[in-house]
Amino acid sequence: TEITWDLESATKGGYPHFMLKEIHEQPKGIQETILRRLDADGLVRFDDIRLSKEDLAEIDKIYIVACGTAYHAGLVGKKAIEKMARIKVDVEIASEFRYDNPFIDSKTLVIIVSQSGETLDTLAALREAKRKGARTLAITNVMGSSIAREAEHVIYTWAGPEIAVASTKAYTTQIACLFMLALDMGYKRGVLDLAAYREILEKLKGIPEKIKAVLKNDLQVQKIAGKIKDAAHGFYIGRGMDYSIAVEGSLKMKEISYVHTEAFPSGELKHGTIALIEDGTPVIALATQQSLFEKSISNMKEVKARGAYVIGVTLEGNELIEEVADDVLYIPKVDDMFAGLVGVVYLQLLAYHVSVMKGLDVDKPRNLAKSVTVE
Ligand code: G6P
Repeated sequence: TEITWDLESATKGGYPHFMLKEIHEQPKGIQETILRRLDADGLVRFDDIRLSKEDLAEIDKIYIVACGTAYHAGLVGKKAIEKMARIKVDVEIASEFRYDNPFIDSKTLVIIVSQSGETLDTLAALREAKRKGARTLAITNVMGSSIAREAEHVIYTWAGPEIAVASTKAYTTQIACLFMLALDMGYKRGVLDLAAYREILEKLKGIPEKIKAVLKNDLQVQKIAGKIKDAAHGFYIGRGMDYSIAVEGSLKMKEISYVHTEAFPSGELKHGTIALIEDGTPVIALATQQSLFEKSISNMKEVKARGAYVIGVTLEGNELIEEVADDVLYIPKVDDMFAGLVGVVYLQLLAYHVSVMKGLDVDKPRNLAKSVTVE
């Protein structure tokens, strides 16, 4: 495996900011991440993983350990692995994991997620996991990085160089890797039969096209950004997979637009935080999970009744949402499992446009660094 980064991919290529360019590179990045790992039979094959069927059968617990946006990718990975491979997964913040005396033995797999492969807290967590005897697997974007070198197994994201401090394409390609890993594990452990495995893989291969449709709707996102740009605070709500995505949307808004936002599982807001909803408070409500759609709508009604300005994100066909949402961003019809991966692109664009409208330094937000090599 060799990753070559040419000059073209390290310049803005006509985009006003690296972040926008990188948002638009996601369909290609995800596609490369998937297609480069399919063997002649169209099955997932990771060159850099030497975990045999027997090894995988032995694993009875997984930790996903990371910081920042990579941690958020881990939250999605947990849902994918638990669903497809039926192994218990805990997602841990790297700087906490080390000091928590984690439950590790030789049957534990620790998955380390890091775009740069150099985040010191994440590297230290990897070393601690190895010291305690875990099997270790890194998902990273940088070949030869410390984490890539020290982990027992490596999966590379094929995102290409990510320059903007706020992570976008690294995050979505990390999620693509985690989905493929979950599939591979599910199949090898006998949870998924070949037919189910192929069906899910086909759906995953269709995600880049769905993201392209979302990118085409950028003008609508800009209009919504104009309406919320002066808000002092806001909320992101969602259930299940939507909540895992909401936390990332909220982080993007904080990082580059300096709007204080928080993400909540939709059903939890009423246990305290709903007190903060006033007239005009923006609430970005994710309702992409068909199985939870009605529940999500009733949570949206709760905030709407308190005066919130509700921006819904849902699938085409769910027009019922317009009865409660002030604005709606539609994504093409897609399986519950992958809807977040498509919908999050709207949240990236929203944060981007708010940042631009406020005249902020999108690619280099204050106080932040691309890679944090201090504890
Ligand atoms: C920094 C960056 C974040 C990133 C985090 C983890 O805080 O500003 O965008 O998510 O580090 O970085 P890593 O390279 O380990 O994924």
